[in-house]
Amino acid sequence: MTAPTVPISGLGAPSVWPASAVRAPGGDVAVGGVPLAELADRYGTPVYVVDEDEVRARARAWRRALPDAEVVYAAKAFLCRAVVDWVEEEGLGLDVCSAGELELAATRAFPPERMVLHGNAKSPEDLRAALRLGVGRVVVDSDCEIARLAAHVPAHERQRVLVRVLPGIEAGGHRKIRTGGEGQKFGLSLAGGDAEDAVARILGQPRLELVGLHCHLGSQVTAPEPYGEAVRRVVEFLAVLRDRYGVTLPELDLGGGFAVAYRAGDPAPAPEAYASLITRELADVCAEFDFPAPRLTVEPGRSIAAPAGVALYRVLAVKRGGGRTFVAVDGGMSDNPRPSLYGARYTVRVVGRASSAPVRTATVVGRHCEAGDVLAEAAELPEDVRPGDVLAVPASGAYQVSMASGYNMTGRPPVVAVRDGRSRLLVRRETLEDVRARDIGL
Ligand code: LLP
Repeated sequence: MTAPTVPISGLGAPSVWPASAVRAPGGDVAVGGVPLAELADRYGTPVYVVDEDEVRARARAWRRALPDAEVVYAAKAFLCRAVVDWVEEEGLGLDVCSAGELELAATRAFPPERMVLHGNAKSPEDLRAALRLGVGRVVVDSDCEIARLAAHVPAHERQRVLVRVLPGIEAGGHRKIRTGGEGQKFGLSLAGGDAEDAVARILGQPRLELVGLHCHLGSQVTAPEPYGEAVRRVVEFLAVLRDRYGVTLPELDLGGGFAVAYRAGDPAPAPEAYASLITRELADVCAEFDFPAPRLTVEPGRSIAAPAGVALYRVLAVKRGGGRTFVAVDGGMSDNPRPSLYGARYTVRVVGRASSAPVRTATVVGRHCEAGDVLAEAAELPEDVRPGDVLAVPASGAYQVSMASGYNMTGRPPVVAVRDGRSRLLVRRETLEDVRARDIGL
């Protein structure tokens, strides 16, 4: 492999690509020292490429920004066993929301006390796995979960829990990923009194130890201010609990939701920007209520994983007509449902071929049987884009592979890690054999 040396500045906002991205010979882009077109040839397409150093650097950036807090990676963004190891080695905890995520982490002996279990509807299997493996915190999300959880705790033991409260704050990149406002399925309302009722009930459960409160505003929250407001409302409630119940809860988990850039110019505050506002507000409100500062936890998922991932597709068809150009690729809504679910917008670039053709806007579509299977509207691509070209989509490391489906039986894509000029397969492609193996009845 020829070592690429020219930095990628000029490819748009540098933050859209991993920091290691550089131009490589022949119109290519290398990530982690490996040319992307080479990866497309070697592993086939579609394929998801993860820059290990980028994940680690982002994990470290969060720890640096909040040195006294617990930083817990939200596994739902993307989890595989290698990521479990990276997160563990960088000193983060792990937020899991199912027995599946929990058990996968356990296969790498991730310290269970550094895990937090979430879920608005935890199954008996989730609760059993959490207690058997010894997760550090279970986040109680409904009233009816309290007795059920307590019933799973062995006699003479106590499970540490947080209560997920609804602060009544609307924030997040799309209606479907806003979870802090009133009137949706998550959390227990502060304003409506449900959170207080749950606290009272937990305090009456000898097998549960209430250690704090949790809230998660939503995802792709592009400014720090809503977190400041959440801190204010939750600490006010902590003070109320102290006054009414005589408990001084020592932990405050603010969830995740920190935004990343998908396209040049998208707002994506650095961890320090969120961190400084949160710590300032926490100090102010605690002083105001004479409340001892609780230990803070944050749960970034997207902010650690998304910018480290690049999706690679091969163009299968180009269709021009009616003033539009459709560029159809060999993946689509089965590996990335985000554009069709949330109207998410992405950056797309041809890699592995230099082109001097003028740039035109095109609609990059998938191969699935739906008109809504669009990966990128108004993508800027060279006019001579053609079948066989490789398209790279940066900022693809979160909520794509983890939300991939079996639609049209096209098979979920593989995940390849790159680092120091080498690549390795982390998750293999789903094959027809896999599909057949699950289909056991006639
Ligand atoms: N903590 C809790 C309790 C959460 O529910 C989530 C995300 C996170 C942390 C991490 O949020 P992040 O830092 O990654 O924004 N599928 C959607 C995102 C759904 C997020 C669900 N919860 C998307 O593709 O945009």
